[in-house]
Amino acid sequence: MNIGIIGAGNIGAELARKLSAAGHSVKLANSRGPESLKDIVEGTTISAVAREDVATDADVVILSMPFARNGEAASLVAHAPAGAILVDTSNYYPMRDGRIDDVESGKPETVWASEQVGRSLIKAWNAILSQTLVEAGVAPGTSGRIAIPIAGDDLAAKRVVAELVSATGFDTVDAGELVDSWRFQPGSPAYCTELTISELEAALSNASKDRSPANRDAIMQAITDGEVPMTRAAMAANNRLMSGPPGS
Ligand SMILES: NC(=O)c1ccc[n+]([C@@H]2O[C@H](COP(=O)([O-])OP(=O)(O)OC[C@H]3O[C@@H](n4cnc5c(N)ncnc54)[C@H](OP(=O)(O)O)[C@@H]3O)[C@@H](O)[C@H]2O)c1
Repeated sequence: MNIGIIGAGNIGAELARKLSAAGHSVKLANSRGPESLKDIVEGTTISAVAREDVATDADVVILSMPFARNGEAASLVAHAPAGAILVDTSNYYPMRDGRIDDVESGKPETVWASEQVGRSLIKAWNAILSQTLVEAGVAPGTSGRIAIPIAGDDLAAKRVVAELVSATGFDTVDAGELVDSWRFQPGSPAYCTELTISELEAALSNASKDRSPANRDAIMQAITDGEVPMTRAAMAANNRLMSGPPGS
């Protein structure tokens, strides 16, 4: 497939590496231009492009930008073919992104992002730590394979995205339509907790729309205060502890 990725940070660059290694044709763009991506694309088949060119012939466009900047992608995805599938990896952290009243009032983050972009988005790869994405992918069928949730309003598009997630090393659980995607926002038991399919299904059903934002902020405070070592294992364990265990 032709895949365009907007955002070349922790998540976008790693998705580019994994999806190109899986045989897809990947274009990668950031805000500073292709020259700034030389180190990332060197020795790979990834093409570094200007962001205006990233979506032109894409089957799938992945947005991996800071949450509040999703609107800046509207003019970029306007160049995408009408049938292109658009994916959002972003998460809302008010202390980083600034307070967004619609989201604070309960609008699911990717519903808000879809409105900013002007196209319906599939939510995927948001509920996985970047270290987990780098280190923990395994082949389909491997015992204990970590699963991540996806949500969106187009079933066929979700199937395509599930295949791509699998190519990056992870199982998926379909968490429903975009309006249901609050179930795996930051602070929920499904968010960055490294669960298998059955554990993730329980975590999604155990999510609380009311508790998640406070959990999210408490987790960020604990990290800021140095109470959580910045290792993958410690962060995932702390997320499990502070977001409530799956199924309880
Ligand atoms: N880090 C994680 O563990 C993790 C896990 C899951 C989901 N997420 C979410 O995924 C998103 C990306 O996270 P990240 O950690 O990869 O972020 P990051 O390292 O800060 O990278 C953000 C990328 O977005 C690019 N960007 C910003 N505005 C842009 C624009 N207008 N046009 C094109 N590119 C633009 C930046 O390019 P420049 O540097 O050139 O400006 C940069 O390459 C965030 O919303 C985050 O919450 C993160």
